Amino acid sequence: MISPKMLEALSSHVQEELYSANLYLAMSAYCESKAFKGFGRWLRVQHGEELEHAHKMVDYILARGGQVAIGAVAAPPRDFGTMLDVFEEVLKHERRVSEVIHRLHATSQAEKDTAAQVFLQWFVSEQVEEEANAQEIVDKLRLVGDKSSAALYLDKEYGKRGKQSG
Ligand SMILES: [Fe+2]
Ligand SMILES: [Fe+2]
Repeated sequence: MISPKMLEALSSHVQEELYSANLYLAMSAYCESKAFKGFGRWLRVQHGEELEHAHKMVDYILARGGQVAIGAVAAPPRDFGTMLDVFEEVLKHERRVSEVIHRLHATSQAEKDTAAQVFLQWFVSEQVEEEANAQEIVDKLRLVGDKSSAALYLDKEYGKRGKQSG
C-alpha cells in the first residue's frame, strides 16, 4: 500500500505535469501565431509527452491502490516574447520540474517506499533529457542571434520532430 504522504506527493505531481502540458500547448500556439510553425510543432509534441507523464503518474497511483485526486491547474501565460525567450522559459521550467522530481524522490526515501523510488527513477532520467533538449535549442538560438534566415532554418529542423523517430 501507498502511504498517505506519498499519495499526496504523487497526486500533486499530476498537476505539475498537466501544467507543463498546458504551458507547452500555449507556447506551441504562440510560436505558430508568430510564423514559427516548426517550433510550434516541436512544442506540440512536447505537450503530448507531458500528458503522457501525467498519465504515467495516474497509472502508478492506481496500480498501488491509491485514489487519484486531480487538483486545479493554473492558466499558463499568453505572451512569450522572442523564440529565444520561449525556449529560455522552457529550460527554466524544466529545471524547476527536475527539482520537484528530486523532492518527490526524497519523499519516497523518507517514506521507505522502494517501489516509488524505482518508479521515480524514470522521471529523474527523463528530466536529464528534457533539460538537455531545451538547453540545445537555447544554445542554437543564442548563436543565431537576430539572423532571421538562420532562425527559420532552425524552425524547419525542429519542426521535423515527431515526423521521423525523434
Ligand atoms: Fe514531464
Ligand atoms: Fe518536461
